[in-house]
Amino acid sequence: MPEAVLEIRDLKVSFRAFSGTVQAVDIQRLDVLPQEILGLVGETGSGKSVTALTVLRLLPERKAVIEGGPVLFKGQDLLTKPETEMRKIRGREISMIFQDPMSSLNPVFPVGEPLTRIIAVHQGVSLKEARERALAVLGRVHLPNPEKILGSYPHELSGGMRQRVMIGMALSSNPDLLLADEPTTALDVTIQAQILRLINELRHEIKASIVFITHNLGVIAKVSDRVAVMYAGNVVEIGPTTEIFRRPAHPYTDLLLKAIPRLGERRDKLPVIDGAVPVIRRPEPVCYFHSRCPRRGDACREARPVLAPVGAGHYVACRNPV
Ligand SMILES: Nc1ncnc2c1ncn2[C@@H]1O[C@H](COP(=O)(O)OP(=O)(O)O)[C@@H](O)[C@H]1O
Ligand SMILES: [Mg+2]
Repeated sequence: MPEAVLEIRDLKVSFRAFSGTVQAVDIQRLDVLPQEILGLVGETGSGKSVTALTVLRLLPERKAVIEGGPVLFKGQDLLTKPETEMRKIRGREISMIFQDPMSSLNPVFPVGEPLTRIIAVHQGVSLKEARERALAVLGRVHLPNPEKILGSYPHELSGGMRQRVMIGMALSSNPDLLLADEPTTALDVTIQAQILRLINELRHEIKASIVFITHNLGVIAKVSDRVAVMYAGNVVEIGPTTEIFRRPAHPYTDLLLKAIPRLGERRDKLPVIDGAVPVIRRPEPVCYFHSRCPRRGDACREARPVLAPVGAGHYVACRNPV
């Protein structure tokens, strides 16, 4: 197996709140391989965004407690890096795009403003040269009339166009790792499909690994090489996308897949998974899915299941896999 770009080991992240501490992430192990698209999937609140923000060290320092690790990026532990070094990594070696590009674009500036500035700073070129490169970036994400786009304010662009600008901006520094957090969730279905096509196309020319975060398994199926499934802060299953879709091993993955409506299939009622993702106030040596699990047994409340192989590159944390 090629050496991983990102290696997360025994990472625990919790938040201090007035009502006590809540554990958001507890990952035994998660690797991102060179130039792959890894889909990170799970219900809302399962810890996907917190995982990405931990890698970039963007969590609020007073509230978030990060324990364990390391989180190795190209062999170096990001958790122990001084902030000055993280600033050099963020946006250059590791880029992130978010669900709502409006929140990352300043409404009072034309989009060319931050794009040109970022390119000038990151690539150490003049503003004039940066402008040329910004035009090239917009062409690369297939935005028509790049000159006009550079002078447009964020609100003058559609959601899909704004997300293209963000993708272009994120890729302009040729990062090794791109963290895409629900980049298509706010878009309507047609535009979502166009953005997924763009990502699939760009992946062949950029040399980056992409972590594609979504709660939508249908989206994952379209872009990712491998899938990691998160539940209550844990990675409960990981493997090649085809393998996960054909032979899900974790009862949670199995139920998630059954909940996707298939084209042409008529159902009176979509299967839903009863219950909700638990809020972990005090970590316990149990499988956090047991209360919702159709395959649970007594052993599920006696120890936390560890990721174990069930196929080639396919691992599951379950005592009674499907
Ligand atoms: N800034 C924060 N302060 C307190 N709790 C947070 C914060 N961010 C996330 N959480 C909690 O961490 C858990 C995981 O959240 P998140 O990673 O955003 O989920 P996802 O992205 O999978 O929907 C949730 O229970 C959420 O409430
Ligand atoms: Mg999220």
